[in-house]
Amino acid sequence: NVGSLKGALAPYWSQVGAAVSPSTILAGKADLLKIHYNSLVAGNAMKWDATEKTEGVFSYGDADTIVNFATANNMKVRGHTFVWHNQTPAWVFQDANGATMTATAANKTLLLNRLKAHIDALAGRYKGKISAWDVVNEVLNEDGTPRNSMWYQIAGLDYIRNAFTWARAADPGAVLCINDYNLTVGSKRDGMYNLVNQLKGEGIPIDCVGSQMHNNINWPTASDTSAMLDKFAALNVTQQITEMDVSIYTDNTSSYTTVTDAHQTALATRYKALFDVFKAKASLISSVTFWGVSDDDSWLQTWPIARLDAPLLFDSQLQVKPAYWAVTGLNPSG
Ligand code: G3I
Repeated sequence: NVGSLKGALAPYWSQVGAAVSPSTILAGKADLLKIHYNSLVAGNAMKWDATEKTEGVFSYGDADTIVNFATANNMKVRGHTFVWHNQTPAWVFQDANGATMTATAANKTLLLNRLKAHIDALAGRYKGKISAWDVVNEVLNEDGTPRNSMWYQIAGLDYIRNAFTWARAADPGAVLCINDYNLTVGSKRDGMYNLVNQLKGEGIPIDCVGSQMHNNINWPTASDTSAMLDKFAALNVTQQITEMDVSIYTDNTSSYTTVTDAHQTALATRYKALFDVFKAKASLISSVTFWGVSDDDSWLQTWPIARLDAPLLFDSQLQVKPAYWAVTGLNPSG
């Protein structure tokens, strides 16, 4: 009896989620999802390139599949994401003549108008069905300064200010998050703190800091993870763990031909170290989401190179792994 992930974590969090695609739901994982999770996020289906490939032409098919499944099964949905520098169609950053935008006032107006139309459409369609939106994703550099994306080049921080303001207006019930990776690293953590502190001081409606938590078997440390949660607690926001996984690799080039028991043990050890911190500070965190369900789902099978990885709690046969017991605290023998 493996029990259930959401049941075991219920004393800590009422929302335990997984990133899914329509095929996760349609290709045999629906039962597993219903047993173990009560929240879903679209791994790709709500991104700009999936929902508005052509200006003003919205396609919601895949996103609807996920939202409808969640709603039918009493699950929450995290919305991911309105603003990102990746998976955004080229037209978004093209001027009235179809050339790549340069930083002019007219282009800023055009870009922000497109952003508002996009947010109004997505947030409006799913109004009342989304527990939290990742309003902006990955807006910082590793040193904590603003990422020099096209968004920033054309609109400065106004793209962030407006995105939150428009998202609040379009779906007042959703928790609004600023989401990023590597927030356990001091420089980026401090950059996030300073940015949110500044924008909240201006009255921008930021409710939540999302920490992706893409980890590996050696990283990050429990103390850096704890320091991150403590730092953001002072911002008076809720925190969400939004994209949790743990790679068996600690570099970008190694590649194993098999995943060994030693890998699975190391994975379980890191998962336990991080979840011990999350559980000790559970009240700071309002949801925990894994970036996939079973190992075969993971983006880490193709990034940074194509290689075997085992970053999640279920293996490719949908069986629980040592990491599952480590996270749940349940006993494999019964
Ligand atoms: O849909 C096309 C398909 O038509 C085509 O045949 C195939 C061939 O390459 O590509 C498919 O698109 C892929 C897409 O995932 C859907 O599977 C893209 O190539 C691939 O680049 C894309 O990767 C996604 C990645 O974001 C893109 O940056 C991953 O699935 C997704 O898990 C990952 O998620 C991000 C979060 O949004 C933000 N945080 C980091 C996280 C991991 O990178």
